[in-house]
Amino acid sequence: MKIKDVRSMKLTMQLKSRSYDIILKAGCLANLHQFTNVANRKVFVLTDSGVPAEYAQTVAAQCPDSTVYTIPRGEGSKCLKVYGQVLQAMLAFGMDRKDLLVSVGGGVVGDLGGFCSASYMRGIDFVNCPTTVLSQVDSSIGGKTAIDLGETKNIVGAFWQPKVVLVDFDTLKTLPRRQVVNGLAEALKTGIIGDPQLFALFECEHPEDNIEQIVYRSLKFKKKIVEQDEREGSIRACLNFGHTIGHGIEAVRGVRGRRTTGLYHGECVALGMLPMIEDTALLKRTRAIYRALGLPTRAGANKEKVLAYMQHDKKARGDHITVIKCPGLGCWRADSLPMTELPALLGME
Ligand code: GLY
Repeated sequence: MKIKDVRSMKLTMQLKSRSYDIILKAGCLANLHQFTNVANRKVFVLTDSGVPAEYAQTVAAQCPDSTVYTIPRGEGSKCLKVYGQVLQAMLAFGMDRKDLLVSVGGGVVGDLGGFCSASYMRGIDFVNCPTTVLSQVDSSIGGKTAIDLGETKNIVGAFWQPKVVLVDFDTLKTLPRRQVVNGLAEALKTGIIGDPQLFALFECEHPEDNIEQIVYRSLKFKKKIVEQDEREGSIRACLNFGHTIGHGIEAVRGVRGRRTTGLYHGECVALGMLPMIEDTALLKRTRAIYRALGLPTRAGANKEKVLAYMQHDKKARGDHITVIKCPGLGCWRADSLPMTELPALLGME
């Protein structure tokens, strides 16, 4: 992928004592030492086997007392076993309360590393360095950290904000196109519900050439939401647009990373967004973007099974489930739907 050389950009997540900077700059992994104290403490660098090893090494090389710990790539590492192994390794490295964990990788490394930081000695400092489009546009900020319990995603976790987030665009150069598009789907989500200018970037001939602007605008919108509702008591739920059906498809088709024939998270979210768009003109434009990017427009999943999964969704409350709908570009609405309306939403009637 071509990355335009742009000047650096910065956002600041304003959360009182938990505020932090989000640095967006090609090559910024090499500048970690400028943004956080790495001189007088142990630094545990967590990465996975799918991430080029030099990224974690670039971080570790700036820290006089550091270690790199590599977990197996894929969603399967967000489990109790690997979580325990990372904590054991942190203890063996002799870390105490003033030390630091740095995650270098995609959402799995960010979520797991964040949760290890949140729980080790009741909480230590955490720096997140997302290296995939998906983690750069979404999961790297906002403080949601978690692991899965079996097939139940993100069910054990904590809100734990990082001290700084380094978004290094250079790390995207090595990503396969399908991985890039996987992340772009989550950014498109943001454009649809909250930012028509971001949506417009996807209607250009080569959206991936605007990746810095896409990442920046996605994070800017998410930052605004998290600042108002850090713990998802209300409006943060809008970020789940496409996820209710998307998680159902993910469970049935299998998530890529766990299963080789599975779909990527962003692809499932993309499929989950389509039934939630109420404006037919917008739906048409969105489908055209999917076709241009190579995103799926049909799930190829057994709808009965998707329905069964949604009926047991952890966000379901009794006989109702909350879904986010989009009545028009840049708008969203939370609807509490009776379960009986789900089949129609899935096009089963
Ligand atoms: N990825 C959705 C959120 O952080 O709330």
